[in-house]
Amino acid sequence: MTLTVVDLFCGCGGFSLGFDYAGFKIIFALDNWKVACESYQANFPDVEVLCENALNLSPDDIPDADIIIGSPPCQDFSIANLKKKYDTTLIDWFWDVVREKKPKYVIMEEVPPVKRFLPSDVPMVRIYRMCDYGVPQIRRRLFAGWFVEPAKYPINVVFPAVMATEWKGSSGPRQMARLSSIFRRKSLIPEAKLVQTFPLDYILCGSLKEQYEQIGNAVPPLMSYRLAEAIKLREEGLITLEEVTLLD
Ligand SMILES: C[S@@+](CC[C@H](N)C(=O)[O-])C[C@H]1O[C@@H](n2cnc3c(N)ncnc32)[C@H](O)[C@@H]1O
Repeated sequence: MTLTVVDLFCGCGGFSLGFDYAGFKIIFALDNWKVACESYQANFPDVEVLCENALNLSPDDIPDADIIIGSPPCQDFSIANLKKKYDTTLIDWFWDVVREKKPKYVIMEEVPPVKRFLPSDVPMVRIYRMCDYGVPQIRRRLFAGWFVEPAKYPINVVFPAVMATEWKGSSGPRQMARLSSIFRRKSLIPEAKLVQTFPLDYILCGSLKEQYEQIGNAVPPLMSYRLAEAIKLREEGLITLEEVTLLD
């Protein structure tokens, strides 16, 4: 039986795309950014996309699904003494939905510093380096919830310009801008798509700036596919959870 997926804070659909590749059925996606919702809908015409502020919704407004995935934004801001503060309202909302819905699998993607703001009862918290899973970046991302440990990719490939950029510690849309300064020209949308492992024909709506932002925000579809594939193999009984965990 095909498992169903709900994508909260879906952006243009990077996280969803890996689950789609792996054969899961995405039934619902939520984001409050109109342009990102338009991109999402253009690439996933059969999915119900709701363009709404999550904080206006209760768990009852979200359809039941076997899997909940999502990347709530976690805005960090500096106060006068420059001590970093994080606004975790949307992360807390995500876990409220998860607690109410009780899906079979949950994966929340975040930046690693969010680790200390996660609820203490989240059973799996992992920080993966993207190039260990086939994504040509050295950037690390955090995944939390209950899911299956993905298999590592045997070969690490990172584009030299990306590596130089990431050594400096930037991420997201700013990373794309830095990439431009290293190339000494504006990086192209297709290049940004390749670094993030989007297919070149992936549809992006909005201005160029908005397109860069959508790509930069996204979970690389190849990383998402690795996570989805691990769940699929377990569902098919081809691997047990214990065997997968041993791969780490
Ligand atoms: C990290 S991005 C998600 C990227 C997406 N998972 C992907 O792989 O393409 C976070 C998204 O949260 C959305 N967002 C921010 N605040 C929101 C809110 N209050 N309600 C719904 N969506 C919100 C933003 O528009 C943005 O697209």
